[in-house]
This record gives sequence, structure tokens and C-alpha cells, in this order.
Amino acid sequence: MNIEKIFENNRKWVMEKLSKDDEYFEKLAIGQSPEVLYIGCSDSRVTAEKLMGAKPGEVFVYRNIANMVSSLDFSAMSVIQYAVQQLKVKHIVVVGHYQCGGVKAAMKSKDYGILNPWFRTIRDVYRHYEDELELIVDEKEKYDRLVELNVKEQCINVLKTSIVQKAYRKKEVKIHSWVWDIHSGRLIDLGIDFDKVLEHLMKVYHLD
Ligand code: CO
Repeated sequence: MNIEKIFENNRKWVMEKLSKDDEYFEKLAIGQSPEVLYIGCSDSRVTAEKLMGAKPGEVFVYRNIANMVSSLDFSAMSVIQYAVQQLKVKHIVVVGHYQCGGVKAAMKSKDYGILNPWFRTIRDVYRHYEDELELIVDEKEKYDRLVELNVKEQCINVLKTSIVQKAYRKKEVKIHSWVWDIHSGRLIDLGIDFDKVLEHLMKVYHLD
């Protein structure tokens, strides 16, 4: 995909939008009120809005390698705070995906330089669920399971923030743990009950 092609595509897209509604961009410019905060992987194959069929203005998006939520990631924390407090999103979804390169890298014994601390947080997830993961003999199955457990842990990291704890308790926001199956294109809801998770979490992570 070359740069000229991108601009050509953009012109076509603008014309297509304006042919249906000549005030389309003027309306977009008025403001946004998305109901969903999407936290997903930067992987070029996992296109957030497209896989959800979302239109511009419907989803607030944050992406990084392996859909991580770290309390030391100022960007992630800012996105969460802005989405919950200002935009008042009703749903926070963490979306992992099978064949995630970041998760794969964290399963390997290799020095990745500046990426080491990023992958270490995924290795921490592995260590946390080591008993379960070590029982899985098939490597692909283990890899898929780590993708799922990583999504669960990142949702828990979302719940560790005071902003989300307050909004969650007032039932203003719901947390969802999803995996996108790259082999079928389908979104899978892991169906984790975060009320139960929160109950357990609060013993350690209570912030108010
Ligand atoms: Co990925």
C-alpha cells in the first residue's frame, strides 16, 4: 500500500460519504459520544471498528501491542479516565486475538531489548496461571489460552483503577472480555463475571 494510494482512497471515501449526506463531516465535527471504549492490539489484521461494524463516533479506541493495560502506561490510564469521566462510556471492552505476536513473543526465551518490560507483563500473566497452562500439552492450545487469560488479566487491570471502580460500583460501566478469532473472523465473549472478580479484587485493590 503506497502513500499516494492512501490519499486516493481518502478522496474516494470523502466523496462516497458526501454523496449520501452532504453534511456528513459537519455533523461529525459537532462532537463525539461513544458508548464503548475498545482496548485492543495494534496488530494490523485486527481492525477495531471494522470487526465490530462500528461507525465513526461510536467507539473510543486504544491499541497497543497485545492489548495491555498497565498502571504505568500514562497513555492507557489517560484514555480510561477520559473515556469514563468525560465521555461517560457504558462499556469497556478488552479485545485480544488468537495468533497475537506479542503474546507469542512473551512465550519465547529471548532478549527483546526495549520490549522486554512490555512482554514481561505478559510473562507475569503466564506465571500467575502457570499451573493451568503447564497442564496444556498442545502448544497452540496453550498459546490460545494465554491470549484468553491475558484478556482476563487486562480487564482486571482496568478494574484496579479508582475511576473504573467508582463507575463500576454505580453500575455506570460494564467490563467485557472478548477474543477475536483470526481463523474465523468471529468475536468470542469469554463471559467472565466481573462482579465476582471484583469481590475478590477489593480485598487487595480497594481504593476508596
Ligand atoms: Co496482537
